[in-house]
Amino acid sequence: MQHIHTEIVEIDPVHPEITKIEHAAALIRAGELVVFPTETVYGLGANALQAQAVEGIFVAKGRPLSDPLIIHIADESALFDLTTSLPEQVEQLTQTFWPGPLTLILPRSPRVPAIVSAGLETVAVRMPRHPIAQALIRAAGVPIAAPSANRFMHISPTTAQHALADLDGRVPFILDGGPCSVGVESTVLDLCAEIPTVLRPGGVSFEALRAVLPHVQLATRHNVDNRADDVHTEAQKSPGQLLTHYAPAVPLLLFDGTTEEMRGGMLAEAKRRIEHNERVGVLVADEDIAIFEGRGVLVYSLGDAAKPEQLAATLFAGLRALEEAGVQVILCRSFAEHGLGLAIRDRLLRAASGKVYKQE
Ligand code: TXA
Ligand code: MG
Repeated sequence: MQHIHTEIVEIDPVHPEITKIEHAAALIRAGELVVFPTETVYGLGANALQAQAVEGIFVAKGRPLSDPLIIHIADESALFDLTTSLPEQVEQLTQTFWPGPLTLILPRSPRVPAIVSAGLETVAVRMPRHPIAQALIRAAGVPIAAPSANRFMHISPTTAQHALADLDGRVPFILDGGPCSVGVESTVLDLCAEIPTVLRPGGVSFEALRAVLPHVQLATRHNVDNRADDVHTEAQKSPGQLLTHYAPAVPLLLFDGTTEEMRGGMLAEAKRRIEHNERVGVLVADEDIAIFEGRGVLVYSLGDAAKPEQLAATLFAGLRALEEAGVQVILCRSFAEHGLGLAIRDRLLRAASGKVYKQE
């Protein structure tokens, strides 16, 4: 694609300066792309109602047209323009979780260009709670379609610098509102399925969803693959489920087991690799740092192993930091799966192409 100049502008994440918002909003209205922060990850936004603007998103990301986008809104009333009907659970869900990291899959109105949803009859909608995202959507006066602001198959950006590293020369404007607080993408909940189904675990925990929707289920690859005649449709329905979707540029090996087993397995693997002159990075928690120091590996801690919110907030920055430091392999421990731990587990499994190392 043609190389364009990328302008990056710092903006106050709590009280965004109106002139900067207005500039970005004018670009959106003109059919241009704007990178902006949300509470989960940075988004690559365009006017959701303008097919040509939306096409620009796919080109800039290098994303296949078969991968549908999320539409971001700032007011619930926008739901009526984007959907044909609202399932009964919507009201309670939006009351409880909006604005916030929950994306709802709903029946798509013909007003939404088909390209947004990759031709599906459904549309993904969410109301972000980040003040910059809200101000931008309001000022633009149109709903904003936005995937994560990374190149296709790369790690989602949680800082403007991550987005710039992936999209420099491909987008005209980046709003730099500092690091994202949640750090993993939104939870995607399909309300068009017979049973409400989480297609992607994310910033709203499964436990929190279940408190509102007792029957909600988790789409595992198992129950998706089991719909015998529908495998292709299901794959299309949630392309985020491709195991390689969140791949770091270097291989990641995921270790399972007790803390002792994981540490032992990682140390042994690191030793073996260092003997072959490989540069090794390890992704751990604070409690593991001392174990790995002085072992010839690059150590990155995601924080307190008992605080999934903290781990989620640093996960993608950690993967990128090790990648940029030039390691040839990343060895990563596992974390508990409650709360945001489920989304962390999901992203790590994808980065590891589904493979887990465990001492028997
Ligand atoms: O937190 C987030 O969700 C971020 C920020 C920017 O809002 N966005 C994001 O977008 O992660 P993206 O495009 O990277 O991921 C969108 C996910 C994909 O897994 C996609 O398959 C799913 O949402 N999705 C979108 N539309 C869908 C639809 N109509 N049916 C099923 N899944 C859909
Ligand atoms: Mg993405």
